[in-house]
Amino acid sequence: MSKGKILVTGGAGYIGSHTVVELVEAGFEPIIIDNFSNSKESALEGIKAILHKSIICHTIDCTDAAALRKVFEQEQDIQGVIHFAAYKAVGESVEEPLKYYHNNVGSLVTLLQVMAEFKVFNLVFSSSCTVYGIPEKLPVTEQTPVQKANSPYGNTKKICEEILTDLASSGNSNIKSIALRYFNPIGAHPSAKIGELPLGVPNNLVPFITQTAAGIREQITVFGNDYDTPDGTCIRDYVHVVDLAKAHVVAVERLLQNKAESIEFYNVGTGTGNTVLEAIHAFEHATGQKLNYKIGPRRAGDVPKIYADVTKATEVLGFKTTSTLEEAMQSAWDWQLSLQDNTAKV
Ligand code: WQD
Repeated sequence: MSKGKILVTGGAGYIGSHTVVELVEAGFEPIIIDNFSNSKESALEGIKAILHKSIICHTIDCTDAAALRKVFEQEQDIQGVIHFAAYKAVGESVEEPLKYYHNNVGSLVTLLQVMAEFKVFNLVFSSSCTVYGIPEKLPVTEQTPVQKANSPYGNTKKICEEILTDLASSGNSNIKSIALRYFNPIGAHPSAKIGELPLGVPNNLVPFITQTAAGIREQITVFGNDYDTPDGTCIRDYVHVVDLAKAHVVAVERLLQNKAESIEFYNVGTGTGNTVLEAIHAFEHATGQKLNYKIGPRRAGDVPKIYADVTKATEVLGFKTTSTLEEAMQSAWDWQLSLQDNTAKV
C-alpha cells in the first residue's frame, strides 16, 4: 500500500529523477510530468533500471492548464506535488528573460490554480540559494534577507517564493507549501544509472570537471582566485543530489502529516563551504584523476562566498545531509564514465 501519489513536475530532470527514486524507496507512488525541454527520456530508463519498475510519465508542459487538468483528472487522489519544472541556466536567462518568466513563473501559477481546482493542497517548491544574492553574513539562515536577484533566473525563484507567500497570507487558499532553497547540487545516484545530463556546454562546475577529466573538454578555467577566501577562489555549499532528493521526501512527509505552516522555507545544503580549488582537489583525491585547470578571470555575476546554516532543516525538518564532498565527486565521475560506456554502446 503506497503512502500516497505524488506528482513530480520536471521528474525526468536532474534533481527530479533522483527525487522520484527516493520517493519510491520511501513508499510513495510518484507520477512524472515532464516536457523534456531540458531532460531526456533516457532518465526514465535509468529510473526503471534502479527501481526495476516503470514510473508513469505524462509528457506535458506545466504552463498548459488544459493538459495539466487532464493529468489531474486521470491521476486520481494525488496527495501532493513537487514542482521542479523550470529553466535554470543563469546566462540564458539574461539573454531570454521572457522565456524564463513565462515558464518558471507561469508554470507555478498554472499549477497552483489546477491544484486548487482538484483540491490538492500540498506543494514542495524547488527554490534556490540564489535568492540570497551576495549575503552580508555567513552562513546564511532562512532569515537572511532575500536580495535583488543577480539574474532573471534568480528573480523567477524570488517571485515564485513571493507568490507562495502571498497565497498563504491571502487566507483564501488551503494550499500549504514548503520551499527548499538548494545550494549547489552535485553528483549522481550511486548506481550511475541517473545523473546530470550534459545538454550542451556545461554551465556548472562539476560537469565541467568530469568532462575535462574525461578528455571531452581540454581544460577547466577557475573563474578568479582573487576573492577574499582562503585560496582566493569562490566558496559554495556543494550538496550531493541524493541527499537533496531525500530532503524532498522529508518535506512531502511533513506536509502529508499536516505538520507544516501554510508556507515554510528551508536551506538544503551541507552547512560547509568549500572553495573551487578544494572542490577540484576533492575530485582528484576521490577519483585519482589529475585535472588540467588554469586560473582565469572572474565570471560576471558570481557570488564570492555562500554556504548554508542548516539549523532549521536539522531541527524542524529533521533533515541532515550524509554524503561527503569526495563521495559526491566520485559519484559524478562514475556517472561520467557510464555516459561514455552508453555512448560507446550506441
Ligand atoms: C560554482 C563555482 C564558479 C564553472 C548556479 C546557479 C544556482 C544553481 C547552481 C540552479 C563558482 C566556479 C564554475 C567553471 C569555475 N542553479 N566555476 N569554472 O554559479 O554557484 O550556481 O548553479 O538552481 O542557482 O546560480 O554554480 O557550478 O556554475 O559555479 O571556476 O568552469 O564554480 O565561478 O564559483 P553557481 P556553478
